[in-house]
Amino acid sequence: MSKPITILAIESSCDETSASVCKDGEILSNIIATQKVHEQYGGVVPELASRAHIQNIVPTVDAALKTANCQLSTINAIAFTQSPGLIGSLLVGSQFAKSLSLSLDVPLIAVHHMQAHVLANLIGEKKPSFPFLCLTVSGGHTQIVLCESPLKMKVIGETMDDAAGEAFDKSAKLLGLPYPGGPLIDKYAQAGNPNRFAFPEPQIPNLDFSFSGVKTAILYFLQKNVTDNPDFIQQNLAYICASIQHRIVTILLNKLKKASDQTGIKDICIAGGVSANSGLRKSFSDMGSRYNWNVFIPKFEYCTDNAAMIAITAYYKYLAEDFVSLSVSASARAEWG
Ligand code: KG4
Ligand code: ZN
Repeated sequence: MSKPITILAIESSCDETSASVCKDGEILSNIIATQKVHEQYGGVVPELASRAHIQNIVPTVDAALKTANCQLSTINAIAFTQSPGLIGSLLVGSQFAKSLSLSLDVPLIAVHHMQAHVLANLIGEKKPSFPFLCLTVSGGHTQIVLCESPLKMKVIGETMDDAAGEAFDKSAKLLGLPYPGGPLIDKYAQAGNPNRFAFPEPQIPNLDFSFSGVKTAILYFLQKNVTDNPDFIQQNLAYICASIQHRIVTILLNKLKKASDQTGIKDICIAGGVSANSGLRKSFSDMGSRYNWNVFIPKFEYCTDNAAMIAITAYYKYLAEDFVSLSVSASARAEWG
């Protein structure tokens, strides 16, 4: 019997410090330390994020090893998020990973955060078949990815301005809701009629997206109505949230349908923080039934930033012997696909 492949993975690209242990492609632990410090500032403050990562990283890695019932001495490789992200945040995880790799004398694996969001769909029993499409929607990205194999992917559509998560968060800010507003819009939307207010759908060619026009339409809509009635937002919060969510979700899913029609691919996944949105999850599943798609949605804890998705990506990189040297650097931006 061949020796098991046990990987310790670290994610620190933004405001979650996370560590995960994966054995032969099975996730044994996924510990996430969420940084609450940013709430009061209405967005992630990079310097504070780096400081919180420094505080969180040792206890988070310890907890991941303990939960997995795993000793450091049994780890075969260390993986980390190399890019993209906040450079100070990435540096904490990457330096920690390099130190562990050096001291344990095991290979180092560099992972692209967006590729990892896509491969979160390979965690667990039910997996898509290749080739599949993935709509990756996060705070910084909105992409349609054509995935030919675990390590071969191509971005076939992406946002030209704001990301879907930004559209949620900026809309929430206009409503006076705290950061991150996406989950709050989701929560309030549950009690509202999504057709109560209509926001425009942008006419963008190909498989690309745009959310800046919707954001501006929401801004003008609120300005006008609040001038007429200062309590407008409070009185209509559920309806406004449901209508905003409905528009963002239909923009995303109409493009996904177009991508499926163009490519003929019917194994379709969603990924990234916004895939935690209940409206998106439901409409996506409904579309799957309507168009005979095989739909895949990662478990909630694998949608927002987490190290399990880094670990599963690293597992495939390990099989391909795709290792990096200690001189590799973290990078705030990295083109791919
Ligand atoms: O993937 P992620 O955790 O971090 C990035 O890589 O950006 O995504 C964070 C984004 C934020 O914009 C957050 O508001 C959004 O995901 N988000 C949601 C929900 N949960 C997280 N947006 C809408 N509904 C949700 N339930
Ligand atoms: Zn992310």
